[in-house]
Amino acid sequence: MTRLLVRDFVIRKSYLSPAAQAAVIEALRPVLKAAPPFTPETPLGKPMSVRMTSAGALGWIADKTGYRYAAQHPKGIDWPAIPDPVLAIWHDLTGLARTPDCCLINYYGEGARMGLHQDKDEADFSYPVVSVSLGDDGLFRIGNPTRGGRTESLWLNSGDVVVMGGPARLSYHGVDRIRFKSSRLLPRGGRLNLTLRVVE
Ligand code: SIN
Ligand code: MN
Repeated sequence: MTRLLVRDFVIRKSYLSPAAQAAVIEALRPVLKAAPPFTPETPLGKPMSVRMTSAGALGWIADKTGYRYAAQHPKGIDWPAIPDPVLAIWHDLTGLARTPDCCLINYYGEGARMGLHQDKDEADFSYPVVSVSLGDDGLFRIGNPTRGGRTESLWLNSGDVVVMGGPARLSYHGVDRIRFKSSRLLPRGGRLNLTLRVVE
């Protein structure tokens, strides 16, 4: 379990053991059943390549009217609670008593990616964002607090956890590609990324 610091992003390699990863997947199963992942559309009307859902009081959604946090899944159902094994990661790594309002769940199938962006729809940037990688390897790109400039890339593997806090909280980041079927954690392949956020 090594700890890397890349441009103030804290990367905890192999933070979750294989058994812990399997436990998180097991805990996510009913969440994904209750709030099925959907394909968000950007305000420009283009479908995103990741499929997305959330757990917690608020979920992050994207559609023609923009990006925002919403109290319900687009199908009009409440988001399921954030599973305990996921909350445990947040409390352990942040040391905060405050629980996150949102666990955004992104599923990357073959060919899915996420362009460079900032996480800035939250009210208080003094809280970190904690990001958990599960399943296939993902090539994570780290930029700067402002658009443009040099970037740095590293592979995130299943069980790695990234903490984006402090000076890194508003840094640009994205996922260029995944290595489809590089992991056997998810029977059908793909990568699940969980991001835990305090929204309000
Ligand atoms: C995100 O920025 O919301 C996802 C990052 C990742 O998939 O590693
Ligand atoms: Mn993000």
